[in-house]
Amino acid sequence: MRSATRRRRLTKSLPAGRQAFTRASVILRDMKVILYMGITPNGYIARENGDSEWTSEEDLKGFQTHSKNAGNIIMGKNTYLYASQSGLLPFEGALNVVISHEKLENKYGGQVIITDQAPKEVLRMLEQKGFTTAFLAGGGQLNSSFLKENLIDEIYLDVEPLLFGKGIKIFAEADFDVELELIESTQLNKDTVQLHYRVLKDGSNIVHQLAQSKIRV
Ligand SMILES: NC(=O)c1ccc[n+]([C@@H]2O[C@H](COP(=O)([O-])OP(=O)(O)OC[C@H]3O[C@@H](n4cnc5c(N)ncnc54)[C@H](OP(=O)(O)O)[C@@H]3O)[C@@H](O)[C@H]2O)c1
Repeated sequence: MRSATRRRRLTKSLPAGRQAFTRASVILRDMKVILYMGITPNGYIARENGDSEWTSEEDLKGFQTHSKNAGNIIMGKNTYLYASQSGLLPFEGALNVVISHEKLENKYGGQVIITDQAPKEVLRMLEQKGFTTAFLAGGGQLNSSFLKENLIDEIYLDVEPLLFGKGIKIFAEADFDVELELIESTQLNKDTVQLHYRVLKDGSNIVHQLAQSKIRV
């Protein structure tokens, strides 16, 4: 279905105004979730051994700018362990939030929070701390969990000029099917293109979308 038609249909099928203010939507109404990934044209964010240090300077700069603007970075356990082992932690200028059910060692102090909360609870926690944007930084398993719950609002993909056939995909296999709207495409350098998408929310999450865009029905 074309995006405009889909949006019109979604708007028509909206619930009554008061229903737009469920507890979840009220709590998350001002939180925008941005996913930012360096990616190969065939959908990988890391090699089999977890290596993702093949992205361009421009990608790293964009990652830093967006994470600092948000003031936080949310990552899964494997991303944390890989970044820790590579000496990249803590990511500067942001509260680093690691989601894991394991009791991981935190050798970084207050700039790193390790939590076993579900994605939505993590967003609530960040909102309670006063953040209005959440910066999701992978990896593939955590990205899928957020997408499956319709929690991602915008996606930046820095498409890098290399291919490998095995590794970690941007979204681990899961049950989701979402439409995107291209906001902008930018050539970052001779070979790297940045695609900036808005995630079009489906009917089940229209309440969150409306709360985001401050439309009232
Ligand atoms: N190219 C890029 O821009 C980029 C960016 C970020 C990461 N990466 C790469 O991505 C790789 C890691 O990706 P990955 O997919 O293997 O792992 P991941 O998503 O980083 O971490 C997955 C782990 O997080 C924990 N977790 C807790 N709650 C979860 C939830 N609701 N959903 C999913 N996971 C949850 C689980 O560990 P527990 O069992 O402990 O709960 C799970 O095994 C790294 O190699 C990293 O270098 C690349």
